[in-house]
Amino acid sequence: MKDKTFLMIPGPTPVPESVMLEIAKHPIGHRSTEFSAILENVYKNLKYVFRTENDVFVYTASGTGAMCAALENLINEGDNVLCLSLGNFGNRWAKIAESRGAVVEKIEVESGQVIDPEVLRKRLAEDTEKKIKIVTLTHSETSTGAANYVKTLCSIIREHGAISVVDGVTSVCAMECKPDEWGIDVLISGSQKGFMIPPGLSFLVANERAWKVYEQCKHPSFYWDWAAYRKSTRANSTPFTPAVNLFVGLNKALEMIKEDGIENMNERHRRHAMALRHAVKAINLELVVKDDKNASHSITSIYPPEGISVPDIRSTLKNDFDIVVANGQNKLKDKIFRMGTLGFVSDRDIITAVGALEATMKKLGHKFEVGKGVKTVIEELNQ
Ligand SMILES: Cc1ncc(COP(=O)(O)O)c(C=O)c1O
Repeated sequence: MKDKTFLMIPGPTPVPESVMLEIAKHPIGHRSTEFSAILENVYKNLKYVFRTENDVFVYTASGTGAMCAALENLINEGDNVLCLSLGNFGNRWAKIAESRGAVVEKIEVESGQVIDPEVLRKRLAEDTEKKIKIVTLTHSETSTGAANYVKTLCSIIREHGAISVVDGVTSVCAMECKPDEWGIDVLISGSQKGFMIPPGLSFLVANERAWKVYEQCKHPSFYWDWAAYRKSTRANSTPFTPAVNLFVGLNKALEMIKEDGIENMNERHRRHAMALRHAVKAINLELVVKDDKNASHSITSIYPPEGISVPDIRSTLKNDFDIVVANGQNKLKDKIFRMGTLGFVSDRDIITAVGALEATMKKLGHKFEVGKGVKTVIEELNQ
């Protein structure tokens, strides 16, 4: 049966019907009082979701747009930027910084590993002249499914004095992320992930320390300019024409998140990710991230067993069950597959996905005890 697709890629993610119905309404004027009232609610609720007292800016752009909005308002040519990279998206920070003429240094790890806080502490201690101005990091690295200890890393960066810039594209909503409490100076995210709306919007929150660096930026970007966004956000407006329908959908989705409670939403993601990880192991598949405590709660990466290819696993899941899972990216293409459990995902979806994965692996000739994955997932979800 077709037209029953379950998107288990790490974005775009499933969108609730009530949100889709809001988005389907006729567009309204972006300077109308009606839209301004929607913005007021959106900006207020974003502070709740981002657990911050600072303004949250909304850009009509994908997550990469917000990454550019972060660095292009902070970097001057020749600035030293340290990029902590767990994979593809950690490397993207480095590319953006280089595009602004920064002197970039990277600390990289093997796929599935996370940054050792002591390695960062040692590197920053060596920087006695305090040349490193910005440290970028990724909370949940979508290309591998590993998650950094953001709280610890940001406190080490704060001790040194640099500005921490964090990619929370697949962590905000899914994992505990508290910029004010943890001392994250700039945090960004994207709409098509935990926010339960389609692609097209992205978010940025910056604190006072980051604003001081912004004030020294000689050529802040025009479209992403923080000052323009702060002025508009405080006036319940936007500097340019926003994707109005997505804002209307976001308004509805944020109300749903608030009703659920952000802590409950985080906990649901943790339960789902852990249940899936343990079920995957129960059917003799190998996880890319070995240790539960280093695992993202939004994306689980899995190695195919010897003799079974990633394209075969993905196409069987798609053709037989209408479940879409992601391939690996770049050097991990066809080496791993990735299952997203991000946003509008329920216990039923996880049980279905594990059942479908078992049926797929059985069909492709993998050896395991049929039913063990489903048993594991049910037991874990009942805990
Ligand atoms: C961790 C992370 N950062 C950044 C991005 C880039 O976002 P976008 O593709 O929306 O530009 C993604 C997209 O998947 C991501 O997962």
